[in-house]
Amino acid sequence: IVAAFQPKRLAGKRVLLTAGPTFEPIDPVRGITNLSSGKMGFAIARAAREAGASVTLMAGPTALPTPFGVRRVDVRTAQQMHDAVMAAAHGQDVFIAVAAVADWRVANASAQKLKKNADGDTPQLRFEQNPDILAAVAALPQAPYCVGFAAESENLLQYAEEKRRKKKVPLLVGNIGHETFGRDENELVLFDHDGYKHLPRAGKQELARALVAEIAGRLPG
Ligand code: CTP
Ligand code: CA
Repeated sequence: IVAAFQPKRLAGKRVLLTAGPTFEPIDPVRGITNLSSGKMGFAIARAAREAGASVTLMAGPTALPTPFGVRRVDVRTAQQMHDAVMAAAHGQDVFIAVAAVADWRVANASAQKLKKNADGDTPQLRFEQNPDILAAVAALPQAPYCVGFAAESENLLQYAEEKRRKKKVPLLVGNIGHETFGRDENELVLFDHDGYKHLPRAGKQELARALVAEIAGRLPG
């Protein structure tokens, strides 16, 4: 009810997001993934839509329902997420990379299910690095306003600001610790060229609204 009376701060804007984990197959029945429920990204997609934006959500495997009015594209691997994002990036005003993207995929994934063998030999997996979706979007000519997330296990203040510079994004959002995974509450720290600021601890939907307002206030024009 309250949201309906707020000004639509993203009216006429197009917002693209990634959310959830990716899944990198080892064989047809096994894979490697990251810890992410997708809740934060889905909450931000919902908040952006409430703020009047046209929202596209590239979602890795999650058990979450699609927020009302949001265009959702389901993907599994980091490469698929990258390809879906690059195909949709043109003309977007904002890109928010919330997904916990697997940094590596299995280079020697098997087309058939791997079988245990009597000697106890274990599979020897080799890895290849996945494309960095956020950095790729940030490097586009006429890139949208790019927002990254960083879940660090230590030294958040230092690592998050380093990550913001490395990825060349104007805004990077730090999660405090891994205690946020799967939880409904979270605490965020925003890093931009002026320094950093905390958003007070709150439910993910409330935080998502606060973050969307922060992003709207930073858009050019
Ligand atoms: N990200 C991405 N594509 C990747 C890896 C990360 O788009 N292949 C995005 C994430 O969605 C997040 C940001 O980059 O918004 C930071 O992700 P993170 O894993 O913290 O950073 P990395 O650069 O992968 O560094 P590391 O995992 O080594 O700390
Ligand atoms: Ca990573």
